[in-house]
Amino acid sequence: MKKIRVDPEVLILEALLAAEPGVVSGTVLAQRLGVSRVAVWQHMARLRTQGFAFEAVRARGYRLTARPATLNATLIAAHRRDHTGPFSLLLLDETDSTNDEAARELGAGRAAPFAVFARRQTKGRGRLGRTWHSADNGNVYASFAFRPRLVPARMQTFTLWMGVNLCELIANFCQAAPGLKWPNDLLFDGRKAGGMLTEARMDADQIRDLVFGLGLNTNSPAGHWPRELAGRAVSLAEHTRRPLDLNRFAAALIGRVLFAYDRFVDGTYQKTFADLWNRYDILRGRSVTVLQGDQRVTGEALGIDDEGALLLRTAKGRTERFRAGEVTLEKSA
Ligand code: BTN
Repeated sequence: MKKIRVDPEVLILEALLAAEPGVVSGTVLAQRLGVSRVAVWQHMARLRTQGFAFEAVRARGYRLTARPATLNATLIAAHRRDHTGPFSLLLLDETDSTNDEAARELGAGRAAPFAVFARRQTKGRGRLGRTWHSADNGNVYASFAFRPRLVPARMQTFTLWMGVNLCELIANFCQAAPGLKWPNDLLFDGRKAGGMLTEARMDADQIRDLVFGLGLNTNSPAGHWPRELAGRAVSLAEHTRRPLDLNRFAAALIGRVLFAYDRFVDGTYQKTFADLWNRYDILRGRSVTVLQGDQRVTGEALGIDDEGALLLRTAKGRTERFRAGEVTLEKSA
């Protein structure tokens, strides 16, 4: 098996995080890295420049006392602890759109899977050409890139499957109760916390590459939304009333997305997909209107079919299916 070289600074952080609130001796760190104690100090000095701080406890070792509050690639890798699979992370201060950046990287031949995270986006995009508000306020703007070699028809349920996995992750990580609004919205109490944007490029009968983009309002404070989003958007921190450890969350997010992608490609996702969708679907049993082009249909949402299409029972008692569209919830009587 190919040996993957792990960044020594990741190994130092991993050891210190695992020992928290205890200490790790310089000798143990040096042994773990296979370098001298002087080399360990040099790595720790570099980590200090990234916003980490260490306390030296006399004759015992080091303890981590501060870490960067914003996204940090070394800390994300240390939290992940899984260095076995082929994966790389590109973390940017700013980009136009992480989906576009991922597509450019794919085009340039970067090995997949990889993820692009940015602290802010200047042209964050949503579905239907909408703008995704992407200020630098502690939120997640991330895109995951893959080369799946699947037939295009297989992709119909991809975003929905990713959505239920994100709900599972958020429910476990934040002890919160997220919901999904078909086809790509993540909500808390009727307010939007996240959106997904999947974009694929095709060869004749195969997906050439795939970018799964996620905008997730994680730490953005209440009352900081632009006027058009006030009352409609919410962040995880606002919902749970606790700040989110962004780097730990990013590590868990990467793990979950890679796991979900593998289950999707090998087909085993089908065992749990319907149950999970029913658990998080906020539309089922509600009166909704679907707008698709010029067509506008109101009815009771019945869930989704095997191909991920939304099913509606209309007033005439007919069941209609929608492969795409914009859904609004009707006010309950
Ligand atoms: C939607 O709700 O319409 C989908 C929003 C998707 C936004 C994310 S943010 C990261 C990635 N980069 C983009 O430009 N868009 C997606």
